[in-house]
Amino acid sequence: MIGEVKNICCIGAGYVGGPTMAVMAYKCPDIKFNVVDSNPIRIEKWNDEDLSNLPIYEPGLKKIIKKCRNKNLYFSLDVEKHIKEANIIFISVNTPIKTTGIGAGKASDLKWVEVSARQISKYAKGTTIVVEKSTLPVKTAETIKQILDTESNNLYSHNSKKFTVLSNPEFLSEGNAINDLLSPDRVLIGGDDKSSINTLASIYKKWVSKEKIITTNLWSSELSKLISNAFLAQRVSSINSITALCEETGAHIQDVSLAVGLDKRIGEKFLEAGPGFGGSCFKKDILNLVYICDYYGLHEVSKYWNSVVEINEWQQKRISQIILKKLFGTIAGKKIVILGFSFKANTNDTRNSPSINICKKLIEEGANLIIYDPKVTIKQIQDELGCNLNINNKKNSDFEGNWSFCKSLNDAFLKADAVVIMTEWSEFKDLDFEIMSRDMRKPAWIFDARGIINISKAKLYDLNLWSVGNGMINNDNLKNKF
Ligand code: NAD
Ligand code: UDX
Repeated sequence: MIGEVKNICCIGAGYVGGPTMAVMAYKCPDIKFNVVDSNPIRIEKWNDEDLSNLPIYEPGLKKIIKKCRNKNLYFSLDVEKHIKEANIIFISVNTPIKTTGIGAGKASDLKWVEVSARQISKYAKGTTIVVEKSTLPVKTAETIKQILDTESNNLYSHNSKKFTVLSNPEFLSEGNAINDLLSPDRVLIGGDDKSSINTLASIYKKWVSKEKIITTNLWSSELSKLISNAFLAQRVSSINSITALCEETGAHIQDVSLAVGLDKRIGEKFLEAGPGFGGSCFKKDILNLVYICDYYGLHEVSKYWNSVVEINEWQQKRISQIILKKLFGTIAGKKIVILGFSFKANTNDTRNSPSINICKKLIEEGANLIIYDPKVTIKQIQDELGCNLNINNKKNSDFEGNWSFCKSLNDAFLKADAVVIMTEWSEFKDLDFEIMSRDMRKPAWIFDARGIINISKAKLYDLNLWSVGNGMINNDNLKNKF
């Protein structure tokens, strides 16, 4: 029993730790929340006076940070101090795919989780509830418990320590994180210690109705998180697999999505066709599932889920090839404007963004890309593309691919051969086609990989259009549909 919770620590001030603790602090003014991170730049940004410098762009986040920061919400580098003070510790650190060793390319890299568990085991005092917030492979709680128990069983330790471990996966979706955290569809708590479960549930009960708080054993909770993401990603791959069929047959993907999604048994969400799913979670969590299935000898199950990732990669390759083909089979030296680099709208996150693969492919073919995104920085693009910015004319020839960053849309289109819409930012839904058709080199192309532009409006101008799941828009299909 830990009695009244006065102090909560979260290890990891990233896309999950930051917004989740901010909303908890907002809803629980009597509890002090310390979010700690080993990255000094991140912590500095969380503490920046100017709220537009927060490390994460998330609608509604600034307002909550303004209300709670330095009142009951603190961001700090002092991991040791805040672990010592806490009654509950959330582990919210990164768990990317392993790049080397056993399970490389599939299994999650748990080194940051292990370091966190060792830090907790060393510094915590008294009774502490340790909560897995990171998405973890099934049975990770067992590993965390073992690490924590080494210290609580240590006969030479001066402090008596007791730990319980709970799994409380996060279901927020970036770009909608604050709404998701304020009104979650459900809160899942897995564990075997009733009293700890009740303590954590009592915090959520301050703003979430009790019917939405579900409790399970540890493994069901860990597995449910992986399966939720796998099911969501599967819907995206399913609809994307149909885009190619629509483009061949003259069916329109938006009509198919609507007709299919209106069946209540299927539902309308996650049926938007696009360039494939990105983000830090879907691919990693499915590959983790694939790895676990193989580990248990369930190879058919693993093959089934792996195909969701394969379709995703195929869609990105397919779109790059269509761009190349429509531009007469060669894009060397051609100017292509890329609209959107984040993996979806309303976030500055670029992890696994479909833009990365598509830009790399186009650069490889010799294109000169002009990349514009309202929230992504030049540094992030540089890190993701791993090639230099064409700022000092470092190219060896006009036919060597490269990219540059564009701060405003106004000048982007001059002499461009094509525009590719990669992210569904609202400002791309209403592009100025008159300026585009005036400034672009003819024949000018728009490739709409998100299916968001107003096709009948665009068609009033001298622009060739291709839209995912609709194909090339000509006067015939325009008459039939748009
Ligand atoms: P992130 O990379 O944005 O943040 C993780 C942070 O943890 C980093 O800032 C890193 O410096 C810090 N960190 C790592 N080890 C540390 C240590 N020992 N001490 C102090 N700080 C440490 O990652 P994220 O997107 O917030 O994801 C975190 C976890 O949540 C992952 O397991 C992810 O799968 C899961 N998740 C993510 C989302 C999402 O939308 N991003 C949603 C649900 C679940
Ligand atoms: C996902 C899960 O939704 C969330 O519950 C989990 O906690 C973390 O992983 P996130 O990756 O932030 O969230 O974004 P999400 O909205 O799920 O989108 C993932 C990708 O799928 C994006 O690239 C998005 O553009 C794409 N997508 C989504 C589509 O292409 N079509 C859709 O209909 C929905």
